[in-house]
Amino acid sequence: MKDSELMEKIVSLAKRRGFVFPGSEIYGGLAGTFDYGPMGVRLKENVERLWLQMFRDSRDDMYGVDAAILMNPKIWEASGHVSGFSDPLVECEKCKKRFRADHLDDKEKCPECGGSLGDARQFNMMFKTHAGAMEDDSATVYLRPETAGGIFANFKSVVDSMHPKLPFGIAQIGKAFRNEIAPRDFIFRLRELSQMEVEYFVQPSEWEQAFEEWRKMMHLFAEAVGIPQDKVHELEVPEGDRAHYSKRTIDFEFDYPFGRKELWGLAYRTDFDLSAHANASGAELSYLDEETKEKFIPHVIEPSLGVDRTVLAILASAYREDDMGGETRTYLALAPKVAPVKAMVSPLLKNKPELVEKARDVRAELQKVHPAIAWDDNGNIGKRYRRQDEIGTPFCVTIDFDTLGEHPELEGTVTLRHRDSGEQERLTVAEAADRIRSAIE
Ligand code: GAP
Repeated sequence: MKDSELMEKIVSLAKRRGFVFPGSEIYGGLAGTFDYGPMGVRLKENVERLWLQMFRDSRDDMYGVDAAILMNPKIWEASGHVSGFSDPLVECEKCKKRFRADHLDDKEKCPECGGSLGDARQFNMMFKTHAGAMEDDSATVYLRPETAGGIFANFKSVVDSMHPKLPFGIAQIGKAFRNEIAPRDFIFRLRELSQMEVEYFVQPSEWEQAFEEWRKMMHLFAEAVGIPQDKVHELEVPEGDRAHYSKRTIDFEFDYPFGRKELWGLAYRTDFDLSAHANASGAELSYLDEETKEKFIPHVIEPSLGVDRTVLAILASAYREDDMGGETRTYLALAPKVAPVKAMVSPLLKNKPELVEKARDVRAELQKVHPAIAWDDNGNIGKRYRRQDEIGTPFCVTIDFDTLGEHPELEGTVTLRHRDSGEQERLTVAEAADRIRSAIE
């Protein structure tokens, strides 16, 4: 299958099966925005939950915040985003279309109409709006372009309220907004996106050790969500290409169907942000080491992970087509931990009340393992399996007449079908529950 064809298939499955819909679709859409549907929202939440577990909750040195998206504009002046968060923009003199200069092979000729392109200028990517009833410059606020800003702005409050010992970190998941010149590639380059970010504060001399620790953690996270290691590549970003705040950056790139592109980033932000905010706000943002009585501005390591790019990498890694003797079986080989539905329970026939009643009992039993156990009694069993395959449900459990004791030695057993192999096992309900439990734990 060609890569462009694979991308089309992923986009089509995502819409057909309720993962991702074009934003504002009934009004013709809005570029750079997508909405997560019933299955997508579960997949996204599972990714976020796993990240919270691994990056925040399993550690004693991590704290959470949920900062406001709208913040005092001075934050973005101090952080350098007002003056420097921009991409090079060129406009065609003939058709007036605008492009990102660094994405064009031919910098002189318009890729749409062949007209000549004007000079590149810097275009600031922050969305601007006004707070309150005044619409003048004094009321300008920005939609945050990275969640990191809300973490730095809360550094002092976290220190004053929690008294953490260095090294420690602050984690946050939330929306960020970037007025991308050319949003593209489905949920890869968005204007409204979600980020999972950590700012990890360290002694200046300890940044390299922390950098290595978070680097490993990012690989572990890729593995946990089902992104294969051989599709993830580290790129040491050269000085000229790094963000203004970074002294070292590694991009974690993924082999997307449209090419190898940035999935996540790991940056050493030094004391750039806390120093800039201390200078601009006058607040005391240094850390006092109680033992040595030394006072200094901590340095920062920042693992920054886009939720949407993670979801796309998961979908691209999981998409499979099997040839079943002329018929194609499509399925998502999702890691059970992130799969929106963990198992589907169905009675073999829906017009047999005794089968339906038993299947309801089995479902209730399996929901003690995990609530995301679906019910499906529509169409024949083959169709039910196909539907679950396409949303990546790892197991299907069927209740038939043997469950009710048609063959007494099989009474109380069910069939458990495995998504990837299509193989079926005859198990007791307790054994089926164990299989599901061990797959998602
Ligand atoms: N706080 C650091 C920061 O924001 P970044 O490299 O600009 O760094 C971090 O963004 C991550 O956010 C990226 O690695 C990517 O996963 C995600 N991201 C950035 N821009 C995006 C966009 N336009 N659409 C979707 N995800 C994006």
